Amino acid sequence: MHMDSEKKQTILFVDDEESILSVSSEYFQRKGYQTMTARTGPEALEILANVTIDCCFTDINMPQMNGLELAERIRSQDNTMPVIVMTGYPSLENAIQTIKNGVVDFLIKPVNLRQMELCVQRVMQQRKMFAENVLLKKEVEGKQRLQKLNQELLVKVKELNILNKIMKKFADISSSTDVFKRAVDMALGISHADDTHFYVINEAVQEPVQVSSSSSASTKSIDPAVSGRVLTPPAADAKRLSDTLIMEVVSDQIPLLISEHAGSNGLPAEIRSAMIVPLKIRHKVFGVITATVNQGEKRFAEKDLYYLSFLAQSAAQAIENLALYENIYENLFATLYAFVTAVEARDLYTRQHSSRVTGLSIVLGRQLGCSKEQLDILNFAGHLHDIGKIGIRDDILLKPGRLTVDEFEKIKEHPVIGANILDQLGLWEKERQIIRAHHERFDGSGYPDGIKQQDIPFLARILSVADVYDAMASDRAYRKKMEDALIIKIINEGDGTQFDPDVVAAFNQAYNSGRITAYMKTGEIE
Ligand SMILES: [Fe+2]
Repeated sequence: MHMDSEKKQTILFVDDEESILSVSSEYFQRKGYQTMTARTGPEALEILANVTIDCCFTDINMPQMNGLELAERIRSQDNTMPVIVMTGYPSLENAIQTIKNGVVDFLIKPVNLRQMELCVQRVMQQRKMFAENVLLKKEVEGKQRLQKLNQELLVKVKELNILNKIMKKFADISSSTDVFKRAVDMALGISHADDTHFYVINEAVQEPVQVSSSSSASTKSIDPAVSGRVLTPPAADAKRLSDTLIMEVVSDQIPLLISEHAGSNGLPAEIRSAMIVPLKIRHKVFGVITATVNQGEKRFAEKDLYYLSFLAQSAAQAIENLALYENIYENLFATLYAFVTAVEARDLYTRQHSSRVTGLSIVLGRQLGCSKEQLDILNFAGHLHDIGKIGIRDDILLKPGRLTVDEFEKIKEHPVIGANILDQLGLWEKERQIIRAHHERFDGSGYPDGIKQQDIPFLARILSVADVYDAMASDRAYRKKMEDALIIKIINEGDGTQFDPDVVAAFNQAYNSGRITAYMKTGEIE
């Protein structure tokens, strides 16, 4: 097998249940991994001190030391070690604690082996990327040291200053578009070129596509459209380097310097001097930065190429960091949604509720002309609107009959608990407000804050209609689902009291056009 040629990866399983240890060990051995097992946290730490482990799965509930404590101990010794926690009963504290302790993933029991395997592959990939970034940094440091030896003090100081500036410029960037724009602006500044461009080229984009550019002739007023995703048509850009030249650099993956125009080197007549530097993300060319001199005496030298290469590398690093960051967000959302699913799954009657509420909200949102961003927020908030139910005791949450007044008061805490979860993570402010307000009523008689009309976030007013519709349109433990005609009547009776009249109007339109029924039947939004 192909695994034999490389070093086998070793996975440590920690669980107080013997059967889980043996089943998972056997499975992963068959898949070409080496495995170790421990029945307690201390036993696991003992193994970790003596054996090189690549990844660790642990149960949460174990005698002596629980899994989260173990994760924390591991992290304090090696913060790159992926720890995956498995538990049968996710709770709010566990969720928060888990993220704090640096656990990389969370699986809810019963976990299947294939799921575990995919998880291992994912975390190993992430760990490898992390290691590569560290190596990359070392390489850059080495290069800088070499330069120091070779050059005079003055040049050296200036150089470090430039490199430092490059790294700083990319450190606080928040979108890939900014990276492109900043890269071309900096390239112009450090190379004293007349024009710099950023082209994206990869498998999806066969021809170089310009995504950003900067020019010494027009630096004071760069068209904002150029810095965005709007592409400049190549025809408008007479001094463009030929695609052939760019594609050459892409396939060789080596920076190209044409210091002086010399007839047959492929440079268009109007360009005197040029550099093309590939930008690689995980060994694959993603795009190029080009710099050209079209007039004057300036000619590019090796040094300029070195700066530009360094700049491209920093830009690539920034893009990669962004991708990692976005990935972490996605993972966190997936983890939180897994909790919602787990809560819903315990009650046969609420299964898929959040997912349907999301779909219905989007149907209504579209009817109301919501923007793409608003629909994204609805998608997120819809899936997580009831996440606060994690904090409500099962005997209340799953009670089949009527709730007492006290019990209902407890249930009413869920919007606040949900908002607090997002607040503790310090993320998703807009979504947090919607989750908090999804049980407010238009006339101010709802909970938890009793706010009314325009004080209730618009998207929460949409979500509220969708939530109530789905609750009535599905079976519950204590009643059958209601007839559509009755639901429509109830929703319209709530017009202006429970619900925003605009949303009710949109609901009626969507219902009459058949979109609500179609969604409930197929789960697909037309
Ligand atoms: Fe709710």
